[in-house]
Amino acid sequence: MGRAIHDPGAVASYHHLHGAPPSGAACRGLACFACRADNPERWAEATARRSPIYCLGLCHVSPAAAGETARPSVRVESAEPVLLENIAAGGVRDLATYLSRGGGDALNRARSMSPEALIETIVESGLRGRGGAGFPAGRKWASVRAAGGDPVIVVNADEGDPGAFSDKALLEDDPFRLIEAIGIAAHAIGAREAVIYLRCEYPEAGEIIGAALREADEADWPGAVRIELTNGRGSFVCGEETSLLNSLEGRRPMVRIRPPYPNEQGLYGRPTLVQNVETLCAAPWIVERGGAAFRDLGADAEPGVKLISLNAMFREPGLVEIPMGIPVRRIVEDIGGGVKRGRLMGVMIGGPLAGLLPPRALDTPFAHSALASVGGAVGHGGVIAFADDTDLASLIAEVFRFGAGESCGLCAPCRLGTAELAGAFERLCAGERGVIDSTEWGSLIAALEQTSLCGHGRGLAEFARSLEKNFPEELAACLR
Ligand SMILES: Cc1cc2nc3c(=O)[nH]c(=O)nc-3n(C[C@H](O)[C@H](O)[C@H](O)COP(=O)(O)O)c2cc1C
Ligand code: SF4
Repeated sequence: MGRAIHDPGAVASYHHLHGAPPSGAACRGLACFACRADNPERWAEATARRSPIYCLGLCHVSPAAAGETARPSVRVESAEPVLLENIAAGGVRDLATYLSRGGGDALNRARSMSPEALIETIVESGLRGRGGAGFPAGRKWASVRAAGGDPVIVVNADEGDPGAFSDKALLEDDPFRLIEAIGIAAHAIGAREAVIYLRCEYPEAGEIIGAALREADEADWPGAVRIELTNGRGSFVCGEETSLLNSLEGRRPMVRIRPPYPNEQGLYGRPTLVQNVETLCAAPWIVERGGAAFRDLGADAEPGVKLISLNAMFREPGLVEIPMGIPVRRIVEDIGGGVKRGRLMGVMIGGPLAGLLPPRALDTPFAHSALASVGGAVGHGGVIAFADDTDLASLIAEVFRFGAGESCGLCAPCRLGTAELAGAFERLCAGERGVIDSTEWGSLIAALEQTSLCGHGRGLAEFARSLEKNFPEELAACLR
């Protein structure tokens, strides 16, 4: 169940007001777009839907439809698993098994530590937010604790990034790890309440985490923190933390102007720790093994491990735990096995709010700063391979159609400019010529870049800039 809506104007912001998309409904996520030639009828259905479905988290079997229950293949490429140990063993969905496998030890250890020492351990680990923005987790915990008052934890389980299914796997196959992580974070910041905001496109995850919460509650585990589960209603921008908070409060899910930031004034004005599922799920391992051990699993410049989701255009799609800092080429060619047909056109990492990497950039390390320098991002770790049966104009049209449809509407360039770009590129794909010139393109992208109040508009501008950098000839061929 989603929370009550208090602003009637909010209703129009949601694609799936009444819950999960119906069984059989086709997905319009970008991973499905990349594989649309594998099932053109399904893709036609996806684009014809009045309420588009932006990602069912079935990118490993795309083009996908609601109700399919395929599980991704799971691999651990890090020196040891931080996040996938239970999932790689087939999943753990009951508390007794979780505890028998060592679950709960980290919580006990955390509670034997002072909140300050616990936060210092997370700081030392170098763990960064895995939801997309990459903000250092330990610093966030410290700032929420310092804000005092009656803090609350909001778990961002909206996993809106089309192409990512890592949070889905954690929720469905290791739900008690998240519950334990919430207990650890609650001890660190002094919270007694937490809310999990789960996208409605993951109904199975909702059932599993709901059952796990009931079981934990009956066992009074982890105790000391009350955890509520609530559903989103199908809106990409609700993954943005302030839009998510408005959604939880029953308001229109528009982005809030910052400051104040959620760590000081978040849910109902309370200091709020908004944290992604994967970020939190790393905490138990870090508490048990120490910050330095986590840091050492990654590279010097980029500590730790990360989950990545490989779409069905790879020969070997699935969910993989990797050490940070490895070359993207290792992900694409060795782990993913390359594209299953044709030649690689480009790789989108972290969804459409990031960039498109050309094959020549594959030696870039999978790390925040290195990827940014080639017009890419780590994002949430969705990795979508596009083969050469996707041309740049149709990808641009699809990304901006998505961007326009999911804009919260606060900023004009995001609300109107993205729709204009989508329309122009759709007409170009339909055979019209001279639909947009380079000056118009330049000014629309500059406006989006400079005036957007959140990462949605800015991310779409980054996508455009990455095309200018990485695909200049192909882009020039689209512009008048
Ligand atoms: C348009 C937009 C959509 C987002 N969607 C998600 C999402 O689905 N899940 C998520 O964890 N973070 C998402 N984020 C990032 C959140 O705003 C926020 O940074 C994150 O939840 C903080 O948690 P973390 O530090 O653990 O990553 C989104 C950001 C933007 C701008
Ligand atoms: S950039 Fe777009 S999504 Fe973000 S606040 Fe502005 S209109 Fe809303």
